[in-house]
Amino acid sequence: MSDQHRRTTFLNEMGLGPVWLQREPARVREQIEAPVANVLAVSDVAPADGRVSAWAEPENHQSVTTPISLDTANAGEPDIARMDWDQLKTAVSSCTRCNLCRTRTKTVFGVGDQKARWLFIGEGPGRNEDQQGLPFVGPAGKLLDNMMIAMGLKRGENTYIANIVKCRPTDVNKRDRPPEEDEANACMPYLQRQIALIQPTVIIALGKTAALSLLKLDPSTPVSKLRGEVHRHGEIPLIVTYHPAYLLRSLKDKSKAWADLCLAMQVHESSN
Ligand code: URA
Repeated sequence: MSDQHRRTTFLNEMGLGPVWLQREPARVREQIEAPVANVLAVSDVAPADGRVSAWAEPENHQSVTTPISLDTANAGEPDIARMDWDQLKTAVSSCTRCNLCRTRTKTVFGVGDQKARWLFIGEGPGRNEDQQGLPFVGPAGKLLDNMMIAMGLKRGENTYIANIVKCRPTDVNKRDRPPEEDEANACMPYLQRQIALIQPTVIIALGKTAALSLLKLDPSTPVSKLRGEVHRHGEIPLIVTYHPAYLLRSLKDKSKAWADLCLAMQVHESSN
């Protein structure tokens, strides 16, 4: 059975077909113009993981005052930029660099092929991810998996999924919220080290938090302004698209997300 046939069969069996398929590079433009197929519509359910919005304004957040001393000054902390994978995982699992450590269940390090050509970066763990210690395991994760399948990719195979922060941000009502700037900054050295170890060919920033944190842009910049362009994170091409949790709520933007993924595929092809 061909890869293409296997993908279609897999999706049909899940009641998800038809799927966007990756064609040869010369036809990528056609794909961008093509009507949106069902792959980004299949998980059209309200996020069941309690997320309000991938980038909703945070409500007044009061942290729970558990007596943990924060490591914000990094006193005595080994140099994250020199860590290997095992050291990095250990450091993340016991991290106290920001307040999110006080309320997390599990840290969410990231998952995938440590030599992946494709790096997808989201915002931060939600409730499901916090429970399981894995990124994108809720409804948004299902959509992300389908986006990857449509690109001819698969979670864990030549792909790596990480987040801007490794612990779940919650508001006073224990609902998911986007990370605040200081939380994103505190966690960034871990992500930078992951990027340096992976050395991906392309980074896809999923949503505003990921895009703005990685590109160090003004918080007022909308995702719509960043799409359709090849940015750089250091030397690595970076494409910005909508967060899957947002796409679950905003059907009209799915075709734009597909155009972004097509641009990412073009960039990937041209780097080979
Ligand atoms: N949203 C994210 O940005 N990351 C996850 O891991 C899950 C949902």
